[in-house]
Amino acid sequence: MGDLEKMNIQWFPGHMTKARRMIEDNLKLVDAVCEILDARIPHASSNPDIVMLAGNKPRLTILNRTDLADPAVTKQWVRYFAERGSRVIETDAKSGKGVNAFIPAVRELLKEKVETYAAKGQAGRTLRVMILGIPNVGKSTFINRIAGRKAAVAGDRPGVTRGRQWISLENGLELMDTPGILWPRFESQEVGELLAITNAIKADVVDRETLAANFMLRLRKLYPDAIRERYKIDFSQQESGFDLLEKAALKRGFLVSRGEADLERMANTLLNEYHEGKLGRLSLEVPEDGSLGDRKPSD
Ligand code: G4P
Repeated sequence: MGDLEKMNIQWFPGHMTKARRMIEDNLKLVDAVCEILDARIPHASSNPDIVMLAGNKPRLTILNRTDLADPAVTKQWVRYFAERGSRVIETDAKSGKGVNAFIPAVRELLKEKVETYAAKGQAGRTLRVMILGIPNVGKSTFINRIAGRKAAVAGDRPGVTRGRQWISLENGLELMDTPGILWPRFESQEVGELLAITNAIKADVVDRETLAANFMLRLRKLYPDAIRERYKIDFSQQESGFDLLEKAALKRGFLVSRGEADLERMANTLLNEYHEGKLGRLSLEVPEDGSLGDRKPSD
């Protein structure tokens, strides 16, 4: 449960106002923003207000947790973003895979600004970027990866919020050391479920057995072989999520008294095993027209 408690941010209106204000204050200091998404659920893990928040700042999208996502689906998402003129990179911040693409992508993103500065005789002027994302999407892990590699943390500077630290990336490119925490979508039951399945929001918002049963249904449709192989059960496309959960529990020998399946234990097992990647690399959203309709070319 530790991982669930860690991201226990309740988004009451007061907290959202505070988060928004913090982001707005920090945005004044940066030239570009990078939103981290969970590659398994790029729509559900994106912030609904990012376009409004980022304004005219160039935006880079980082598809993180690619180690847990279906590579074929991630490819589709990359194409989806690229076709819409958005810049996107794929990362696994945990192992560091793909993180090297970040600096070149930011440089590319800020090319026009670099050229404008050079034309004004201000070549080498510092350019700053900020990482944004919903809780638990990997912001700190990503920043630590970059900081670990690039080590130097620039000290306070005049005109910069007191205590704000900048990580020097290369040649005048700096990354804000604290990420902006964005609120998740409160859009629908569907999105809420996807966020809970991937641990972005507390799973007991919905009860975990129902969540796990609904997750089983998704898997039955999207990746039936993953359940067959992992839990050694067979099923038809007509069976309910609870049926599958029960079968898996019985197979694993998870029982409560009188030989009844322990659904609660199986629900937690299923969700934890997905989290650990033990079911394989499974994506839960595929791009559809309009799925990220608010995303326009950022520059
Ligand atoms: P945040 O700042 O956005 O809130 O997220 P944070 O970096 O704290 O990451 C949340 C969890 O996600 C961490 O796990 C981290 O290791 C994991 N994580 C981040 N990026 C990736 C990735 O690309 N792939 C995978 N597989 N995991 C990633 P944790 O707190 O150690 O717990 P656990 O989730 O490993 O159990």
